[in-house]
Amino acid sequence: MKVLVIKGSIVNSGTSSSKLMTDKFMDFYKEKNPSHEIIELDLNKEKTASVSLSEAGLVGGQFWKDIEANKLVDLLKSVDKVVFSTSMVNFNYSGVVKNFIDAICIPNVTFTYKYSEKGQAKGLLDHLKVQILTSQGAPADWYPFGDFTANLKGTWEFLGANVVSYVKLAGTNVAPLQTMTAEEKVATIENELKEAASKF
Ligand SMILES: Cc1cc2nc3c(=O)[nH]c(=O)nc-3n(C[C@H](O)[C@H](O)[C@H](O)COP(=O)(O)O)c2cc1C
Repeated sequence: MKVLVIKGSIVNSGTSSSKLMTDKFMDFYKEKNPSHEIIELDLNKEKTASVSLSEAGLVGGQFWKDIEANKLVDLLKSVDKVVFSTSMVNFNYSGVVKNFIDAICIPNVTFTYKYSEKGQAKGLLDHLKVQILTSQGAPADWYPFGDFTANLKGTWEFLGANVVSYVKLAGTNVAPLQTMTAEEKVATIENELKEAASKF
């Protein structure tokens, strides 16, 4: 069993609450599944950190070449599960996550409209189980227009994946979490992470 852990926060590893959440989730997961192979992908260290889709990139599919989309898609096709984490940046997921999504949403590679009934798409990553882990500064109900966690869930489902669950750490920049360290913030949802890891 292969698990791909994708980190999409733009905050560095030592202080990122979503990256610490991911590490905590994986600690619980590894306790239960010690033989599973774990592969880590930090989107800040891939082409996703520097290549974004623009007018020039559409010409001849240059964007997908520059961002090494094949490498990302091959990786997704080679694993059984994905743990995907990111945090809120200006009411959405981070730019590196957007670049990643633009890279992997490829017609007839990761989804298709061929053979589908009533025109709906069929996701071609239907072998994947996905766990989503997100963090945001504001409480969960402050920006209903910026529900990037729901957006990610829908995007993975569009690609055919089974999103097993998502865990959201909201309100990191307001009381009572505001004055805590990232470790302390993550500790407030430890039970939720443990339960999600046991079901994944
Ligand atoms: C550039 C930037 C923009 C942000 N924009 C928002 C935002 O629009 N809404 C919000 O609730 N939090 C926002 N935040 C706060 C982060 O979402 C919050 O601190 C989160 O817990 C960070 O998680 P991380 O440390 O894993 O990146 C922003 C943070 C940064 C660095």
